Amino acid sequence: MTDVRALTVTAALQDYAVRHGAWPVDTVLRDLREETAALGRPAGMQVGPDQGQLLTFLARLVGARHAVEVGTFTGYSSLCIARALPPDGRLVCCDINDEWTSIGRKAWKRAGLADRIDLRLGPGLDTLRDLPTGEHLDFVFIDADKGGYVSYWNELVPRVRPGGLLLADNVLWSGTIVDDTVDDADTQALRAFNDMAAADDRVEQVVLTAFDGLLMARKR
Ligand SMILES: C[S@@+](CC[C@H](N)C(=O)[O-])C[C@H]1O[C@@H](n2cnc3c(N)ncnc32)[C@H](O)[C@@H]1O
Repeated sequence: MTDVRALTVTAALQDYAVRHGAWPVDTVLRDLREETAALGRPAGMQVGPDQGQLLTFLARLVGARHAVEVGTFTGYSSLCIARALPPDGRLVCCDINDEWTSIGRKAWKRAGLADRIDLRLGPGLDTLRDLPTGEHLDFVFIDADKGGYVSYWNELVPRVRPGGLLLADNVLWSGTIVDDTVDDADTQALRAFNDMAAADDRVEQVVLTAFDGLLMARKR
């Protein structure tokens, strides 16, 4: 039996970790979390402040200038990615929901990052197919409908430059990914996605057992 480390992430522990990282949760991010929390149940889709810091960190690590996010919601993760970009950098955001993303637009403006974010409303797959086909992307974050992950991946991998990074969120799906009694459409889609990504020799990847499971893949 493999040893397993168990770390229960309480709110206090998460807060401590975030306070010991760069890019603290400023007023704009705090207000955005509060406004999103007021939406009720959908608020659970938002990345946590610790994962937001990691997005900023990783985007800076790869020196991202051209980035894409699939699944923007109220714009927290996009803000965390956009703040890592240089002034001439661009983050293309894909979402289908005008109401949720309009909350994000306000926050991006308050943060002085609106000029770095290009929100495209419509099915993510259509937006990705319209992107230039060359290897121009430095950083990709997939966090939309789980049934779309395989298609998003297939559009994005050829467009990422060698050494660029692809991230996919929720790949452990609250742990149900390894629960044989769970077989709903989203779980099946994530299993198919994880198997496909693991077998894709265009990338080298790790699955982080943090958050809700984060796949991180570097283009070879
Ligand atoms: C998990 S949320 C994204 C959370 C966001 N990354 C954050 O941290 O705040 C998923 C988003 O995907 C969007 N979405 C669902 N289906 C989509 C599709 N076919 N194309 C683009 N976006 C889609 C939803 O409207 C929702 O805002």
